[in-house]
Amino acid sequence: MVDHQAPGADLQATHQAISSCQACALHEGRTNAVPGAGSSHADLMFIGEGPGFNEDRQGIPFIGAAGQFLNELLASIGLRREDVFITNMVKCRPPNNRDPFPGEIEACSKYLDAQIEAIRPKVIVPLGRHALARWFPNESIGKLRAHPRRFDGITLFPLYHPAAALHNGGLRATIEDDFAKLGELLRQAPARTEQQPQPVTASLLDPAPPMPAAAAPLAAPVQEAATLDEPSVSIEPPSSVEQLAQAAEEPHNEQLSMF
Ligand code: URA
Repeated sequence: MVDHQAPGADLQATHQAISSCQACALHEGRTNAVPGAGSSHADLMFIGEGPGFNEDRQGIPFIGAAGQFLNELLASIGLRREDVFITNMVKCRPPNNRDPFPGEIEACSKYLDAQIEAIRPKVIVPLGRHALARWFPNESIGKLRAHPRRFDGITLFPLYHPAAALHNGGLRATIEDDFAKLGELLRQAPARTEQQPQPVTASLLDPAPPMPAAAAPLAAPVQEAATLDEPSVSIEPPSSVEQLAQAAEEPHNEQLSMF
């Protein structure tokens, strides 16, 4: 049962469990597990792909080059890392920064469920296609980025992974613009809705999307050797909060409640 008087307590227990987790082979190569960092009361939660070299060394998410850019993006909307919560789909570094395997993401998903349950952020930002796939397994980040969706009392606002801009400088301005919209959205997002307490291992976001059939085998990477998201679709994102709300009514959101 969730103790709403002590929102940090569940999170601490979850992070302890992550630190000693051996649920998939990634634990074998880790220096440190990287559970996540930030405020246990955060309104805003970022979910990346998985720890890289620096994160594995220090046990802290997003402290490499992508993390520096994320810090700048946060500052651009008046936030510091301590104001938000930052985590990843997998909490241990995949070897050579390869994409996490579907089975690894699945093994780790109970921890993300528990973190979302403990923090209950107003807005969750999946960064890049791996995090997006948790909710929308067959959609492209290029298409869904900067389109808000309301899901079980939480607003989802997918964005390109900041590392994408490091590899494709042309994306930098796009990510900066999307962040400005995130700032605007945060100011206007509805207050968190109180949920019935649930076991921490149950997904908060039921009905959870099924894993894509092609993604089921543990040994098959989603996409070989690609660690960054590609801007595969050139649909322009909405440019105002009114348009954002309108976008939430587009057909691909039909199973979700609206703003
Ligand atoms: N990229 C991620 O997705 N997560 C990190 O923690 C660092 C880089």
